[in-house]
This record gives sequence, C-alpha cells and structure tokens, in this order.
Amino acid sequence: MNVKYKQNKKKHLYVKDCVTSAIAYPQDINNIYPYNEQYNVNKIYCGDAIELVKNISDNFVHLIITSPPYFGCRIYGNETLGREESPLDYINNLLQFTIELKRVLRQDGSFYLNIGDVYFGTKGFIRNKGRYARKTDIHYREHKIIKPNGKYLQYKQLLMIPERVAIGMQEQGWILRNKIIWEKPNPVPSYSPDRRYPVYEYIFHFVKSKKYYFDLEIAKKLNNHRDIYRNGIEPFKEHQASYPVSLIKPLILTTSKENDIVLDPFIGSGTTAVAAILTNRRFIGFEINNKFCTIAETRIKEAQRLISINLPFIY
Ligand SMILES: C[S@@+](CC[C@H](N)C(=O)[O-])C[C@H]1O[C@@H](n2cnc3c(N)ncnc32)[C@H](O)[C@@H]1O
Repeated sequence: MNVKYKQNKKKHLYVKDCVTSAIAYPQDINNIYPYNEQYNVNKIYCGDAIELVKNISDNFVHLIITSPPYFGCRIYGNETLGREESPLDYINNLLQFTIELKRVLRQDGSFYLNIGDVYFGTKGFIRNKGRYARKTDIHYREHKIIKPNGKYLQYKQLLMIPERVAIGMQEQGWILRNKIIWEKPNPVPSYSPDRRYPVYEYIFHFVKSKKYYFDLEIAKKLNNHRDIYRNGIEPFKEHQASYPVSLIKPLILTTSKENDIVLDPFIGSGTTAVAAILTNRRFIGFEINNKFCTIAETRIKEAQRLISINLPFIY
C-alpha cells in the first residue's frame, strides 16, 4: 500500500487522504483553515485531536460520534488524554475538549459520546486479576496515579466518570437527550469476587439546541427508538477498543441526512468513517496513532471499493 504523509514539523500534523490521491495534501495547517467542504472532508488527520479541532470552522459538522480514550485504561501512543494522574483532571481535560466540539457542531446537530467507567484500583486502575487479567494490564503499571483520599478516591470505587462528564457538559449548555445503554452480550471480562459483572457502557446523545435533526420514523424502522441497545463488541484487528459499525450506523441514519459531515475526533480503526460511507455521509477523522491511521485508511478504502462494485459489506 502506498501511504502518503505530509508532515508540518511545527504542528505535528499528518494528513491522509482516504478518498482519492487527486486531492492535494494540505502543505501546512493554514491550508486547512478555514475548513473547506470540498477539500477537507473524507480524510483522516493523523495528529492530536485537541489541536486539530481548532482548525475546524464554527458550526461546520452535522454530527459528532466518538469514543475518547477512557481514563487509565489503555496506552495508544503519545496521547495525554486518559493518562492523567487523577480522574478529575481527565474529566476537566475532556470537558475542555467538549467546548471545542460544541463550537464546531451545527445548531441542528447531534453529538454521541460513548464513554466507559473504571474502578479506582490498588495497582493502577486494574480490572482483572489472575486468569482474568487483561493484556492491557501492562498499561496500568505504567500509569502513575494519585493516592487515595478516603472519599471519592478510594480503592474499589466505581468512579462515575461518564456521569461526571455528562453533568459537566450540561453546565456548558449542552442538552442531554438520551442516556443510551449499550449492553454487550460478550463484554471484555471484568471479574471480581465481590461485585457484579459490568456489561454495559453509556452512549450519551447531546444536542446544542432544542431544534435539532431527528428522524423518529427511521429510528422506529431500524428498531433504534428505545434507549437500550444490545450489540456485541467487535474488536477490529489490532485495535482492541473499537466499537461495531452496526452500533454506529443507526445513530448516523437517525440524526443526519445524506451527504452530511460526521466528525470522529478519536477515530481509531475508522469505524465511524466506515459507517458514514455505508450511509452515504462524509466524514472527518482525527487519530493520534499512525498505526491506527493506516488501519483506518485500509479499512475505509475497502469499504469504498465494495460499495463501488455493489458488493455487500461484511462487518
Ligand atoms: C476508544 S479508541 C476509539 C476507537 C474507535 N471508536 C474505533 O471504533 O476504532 C480511542 C482512540 O483515540 C486515539 N487517541 C487518543 N488520544 C488522542 C488524541 N489526543 N488525538 C487523537 N486521537 C487520540 C487512540 O489512539 C485510540 O485509537
């Protein structure tokens, strides 16, 4: 595969064009600003979302769907979000970012935030021990964490990070429309002998204004009109934290129109982009880890190829 990158040394910006090599690669960050619908969409930008989002014009994207790095769970590369010493710092950092997302979302747009929780642990933020230990446990050992304080920060405490982020977003003026429960019939094992087995995550549906685009008829047709979804996890190749296309597609179909722009600032293996392609929407993706950018690009090209020859897409 011929992978092309252009790097701006000052801003550490890589741009990958996932649609056609005929489109010019922006030479530097100034070329992307102000965002231009013709040239800047259908691309994965390999860099730090916190910086890249600043280049998107106000009220530009119709829909945002994302799953940010969870607190203390995995190390993806050189990211900082998710690796703070305190969960409260993580929440604050994420909330700084949601201010920017609110700026770039159109007035009638929606924002779906998929976010998971974690227990305050004795050795980092462990989820499992012994035969249930996860490969990602190695990350916890490298994660420097704040000392317990006997109150919020106590060993075994479920940190309620999603709820705290959602409340923070309400304070920023976001309107929370649904607290969707994504129930996983095949969750990543998270065993403990003295508590129940966690099998769900939240997908918060936020909007910016009371009048936003929502197609209830399509939601009903897709059986997507209730707030509990049962959908298996489908880790994509080397990206263990990916969500399934089948979870994302109905969200796109119910809250955007054809040709709309869907932004995923933490796009990982490219799931949101693939779901956007399959529903005839455009996408913008940010991803800090170059390896995932390449995985996403390959996956996106394959989705486009199958669509162009009318072959069914298997996810
Ligand atoms: C939970 S995963 C998202 C997975 C994605 N939904 C999928 O289906 O593949 C979070 C992703 O955010 C990326 N990431 C972490 N910090 C980032 C940052 N500051 N800017 C851009 N991407 C970042 C990670 O490399 C990781 O791929």
